[in-house]
Amino acid sequence: MKYYIITGTSKGLGEALALELLIKGHHVIGVSRSQSDKIEDRVRLKNDNWHHITWDISHIEKLTSLMEAVFSCIDFKQALSICLINNAGVVTPVKVIEKCEDDEIMEAFNINTMAPILMTSKFIKKLKSLEIDKHVVNISSGAGKHPYDGWSCYCSTKAAMDMFTRCVALEQKKTAFPVKIISLAPGVVDTQMQGVIRASTKEDFSNVERFIDYKEKGSLLSPEAAAKKILEVMEIEAMSQGQLLDIRDYK
Ligand SMILES: NC(=O)c1ccc[n+]([C@@H]2O[C@H](COP(=O)([O-])OP(=O)(O)OC[C@H]3O[C@@H](n4cnc5c(N)ncnc54)[C@H](OP(=O)(O)O)[C@@H]3O)[C@@H](O)[C@H]2O)c1
Repeated sequence: MKYYIITGTSKGLGEALALELLIKGHHVIGVSRSQSDKIEDRVRLKNDNWHHITWDISHIEKLTSLMEAVFSCIDFKQALSICLINNAGVVTPVKVIEKCEDDEIMEAFNINTMAPILMTSKFIKKLKSLEIDKHVVNISSGAGKHPYDGWSCYCSTKAAMDMFTRCVALEQKKTAFPVKIISLAPGVVDTQMQGVIRASTKEDFSNVERFIDYKEKGSLLSPEAAAKKILEVMEIEAMSQGQLLDIRDYK
């Protein structure tokens, strides 16, 4: 049995990843504040290996309980591999830093950086002595490598995850049964997050027109196509440790 723990499965990329993995017959444990109708409909039609945990990962003090709930869905004796995909994310606040409220800044860092770091820490600790395939995939962004005005929080949360990936990879190389960790940018995907970006003003985000153009010219990747490509790249890069990858580099 292959297990995938995915955050942010109610919509967008996380939902598409979960559906694709369920179709392949794998066990998926999804975490988000709301449920995906698409996944629930599929599960009603076909008895899939789906567990959903309704949780707000911005409450970082409660992540130990979340991970206990996640681990209770896994049959460790039967597991051939376990993969944590840190996918949940927010692009907000989209505005210059002095206009951002403290709670908006903290929420962005809690969801995009603190939660995936804490969850990865608990994942590695729990699975330390397990001699099976273990992976952490951090869904990152080109924004973690290139600065944009109005996106100081988003860019820096993603840059932090990229450096976290590289550091943990070095740590894991020294262990007996290492967890493989990579960071993977999905390209520009037609999700609600893109809608939030397009709804921002030019004053708050000077690149907004470029993103409106992507949508108008049909150059956004569908969540389904992005999910398929991500899973393909994860397979190709199954042995990679600490790499910062972008699905656009794989034809
Ligand atoms: N779309 C793009 O073009 C693009 C480009 C580069 C990178 N990415 C990255 O890809 C990932 C997925 O983005 P997306 O475009 O699919 O975004 P999306 O459509 O806005 O979906 C975000 C997901 O994250 C979950 N989430 C947000 N806040 C949460 C919280 N507090 N607790 C639990 N779950 C939470 C949401 O679920 P609930 O609201 O139900 O909680 C939802 O399922 C993100 O990490 C994003 O940074 C996206």
